[in-house]
Amino acid sequence: MRTVDVSLGSRSYPICIGEKILSTLGGHCARLKLGKRCAVISDKNVAPLYAKAALASLRKAGIDPVLLVVPAGETSKSLDMVRFCCDRLARHRLERTSFIVALGGGVVGDLAGFVASAYLRGIAFVQAPTTLLAQVDSSVGGKVGVNLKAGKNLVGAFYQPRLVLCDLAALRTLPSRQFRAGLAEVIKYGIISDAALFARLERDLLLLLKRDAAVLAAVVARCCQLKAEVVRQDETESGLRAILNFGHTIGHAIEAISGYGKFLHGEAISIGQVAAAKLSARVCGLPGAEAARIEALLARAGLPVSIQLPPPQRNGLLAAMLLDKKVTGGEIKFVLARRIGLAEPGHKIAPAWVRQVLAAPAAQPSRA
Ligand code: GLY
Repeated sequence: MRTVDVSLGSRSYPICIGEKILSTLGGHCARLKLGKRCAVISDKNVAPLYAKAALASLRKAGIDPVLLVVPAGETSKSLDMVRFCCDRLARHRLERTSFIVALGGGVVGDLAGFVASAYLRGIAFVQAPTTLLAQVDSSVGGKVGVNLKAGKNLVGAFYQPRLVLCDLAALRTLPSRQFRAGLAEVIKYGIISDAALFARLERDLLLLLKRDAAVLAAVVARCCQLKAEVVRQDETESGLRAILNFGHTIGHAIEAISGYGKFLHGEAISIGQVAAAKLSARVCGLPGAEAARIEALLARAGLPVSIQLPPPQRNGLLAAMLLDKKVTGGEIKFVLARRIGLAEPGHKIAPAWVRQVLAAPAAQPSRA
C-alpha cells in the first residue's frame, strides 16, 4: 500500500492507495478515532458491489454503520438529496461524534462530503472512492457540494475528509467508458504540472487501459501527490489551485448545454482540454507539436476531442461559460499551458477566439 499525505496542518490526512484495501476501512477509522457510529453513503450501482465489504470492515472494528443508498448519476448532486440524507441521519440519531463514509464515485463523494459539512454543523467524513476520476481528483482536496439548475457545484464548501482510501481493485469493475473518462483527469495532471507523467502516459497507455496493477498504482499515486501539493499550497483556490481546472471552463459549459449526463465529466473536459491547448498555442506559446500531443493522447485514450456545434449553439456554450462560478466581473478566465508540464491560471480570452478553436479542425498529431 502507498500513502500520500495531504499536509494542511490540523486538517492533514492520508490518502491510502492499494489493491483490496477496502477491508482495512474499519481499522483506519478506528485508529483515527472517528467515532463508534457512522453512515455509509453510496449509490445504486456501487452499493451492491462494495457496501457489504465496507460494512463488514466497519463492524469488525467495533463501529456501527447504517447504509444510505442514493440513485446513481449527477441528478443526485442536489439540495433535495442533501435533505434526504440529513433526514435519514437524524432518523438514525447520528451525533456529532458519528461520521460519514462516502463510498462511490465523484457524485457520491461530493454529496456525502457536503452532507458531512452541514449536518450538525459538521461531522467527520471519509472518502472511499471507487472510480478513477474520484480516486485521482474529486475525493482529494475537500471540494464538496451539489448542483443548482443554474450550474454545477454552485452550492458547496471546502471541507476536508479525514482519510481517503483508494482501493485499486474497485477500478477493475468500472465500465470502460467511466475508466476512460477518469483518464481525462489523469492526463490533465501531466499537462498542468508533470511532463514526465505525460510522457509515461504516452508510453504506458495500453497497459493503463488494460488496468495493469503496477502502472495503475504508480499513476494513481502520482496524480494524488500532484493534487496534494497543489491543495497544500492553495486549499481554497485563491490562485494556484485554479490550474486543476485546465479544460474545465469549456468542459463545464459542454455539460450544461448538452444536459447533464449526455457527456461524462471526463469526456466534456477532454474536449475542453483540446480547446484549451489550442488557445494556449495561440496565447502563451505552447508549441503546436505539444498541443497535437495533448489531442493525440486524449484521442488514443478513447475520449472525444471535439464537438460539432452549429453557430447558435456555440453562442449558447459561451453564455454557459459566463455562468461558471469562476467568472469574476463577467470575465471568463482560462487556465492555459505554456508547455506540457506547466500551466497557469488567469488568462482572459476573447469569446471570438473560443468560437474559433471550437470550430477548428482536429490537429495532425506528430506522434501517436
Ligand atoms: N477538481 C478541482 C479541484 O479540486 O480543485
